[in-house]
Amino acid sequence: MTVPVITIDGPSGAGKGTAARLIALELGFHLLDSGAIYRILGLAATDAQIELDDIDSLVSLSNSLDLSFPYNAEGTEIVLNGVSVGDQLRTQAVADAASQVAVHPPVREALMGLQRRQARAPGLVGDGRDLGTIVFPDANLKIFLDASVEVRAERRYLELIQSGQTVERSAILRDLEIRDVRDRTRKVAPLVPADDAYVIDSSDKTAAEVVADVRDLCRAKGLA
Ligand code: DC
Repeated sequence: MTVPVITIDGPSGAGKGTAARLIALELGFHLLDSGAIYRILGLAATDAQIELDDIDSLVSLSNSLDLSFPYNAEGTEIVLNGVSVGDQLRTQAVADAASQVAVHPPVREALMGLQRRQARAPGLVGDGRDLGTIVFPDANLKIFLDASVEVRAERRYLELIQSGQTVERSAILRDLEIRDVRDRTRKVAPLVPADDAYVIDSSDKTAAEVVADVRDLCRAKGLA
């Protein structure tokens, strides 16, 4: 049986995570936050003092990860090997480490099975960078959610401030720009829309408006 899959790819801060969670909630589908996988790997490598270009060690670390993403209307929980890991993933340092470990093809390959296994009945909504292009090339609906870098930086700033972190607006913008270039220009699985992706620009939209757009596309595809 093939399980329906919806992918939402795009740059950091475009609102992928919220849109994916709300659509998954409406459809009763499972959720895959693929960025969290790269963040966990970046964090685990840093904690274990593994260099972010030590590919062999990163691959064996990747093979030891067992993850699930229970969620509700308020948010998504990330459960690693049975333990909930939360806010520690949402720092700029971890985001940067994630983007660095994500450039290595063997690491991406090692994480493929973990991501594909999340496609279980009754369906999956996943968000990331390469879900529609590489991980789920046959997805039933592919969205590419974009927004201007200024809007994305402002959203990330508010998110970090709300979670109690002390951050500078200008540093967030600079980090996002560096990460964008790295994610868009890497040789393997760069951040690009799939040929058959629907591009939505969320710069001037609320989360509810983005979800309404995605819901319409789901209906058009017979998924809702
Ligand atoms: O979506 P995020 O900000 O949590 O992702 C963190 C980093 O992980 C991002 O800068 C690049 C990497 N990533 C990736 O390479 N492929 C994915 N499918 C998801 C994230």
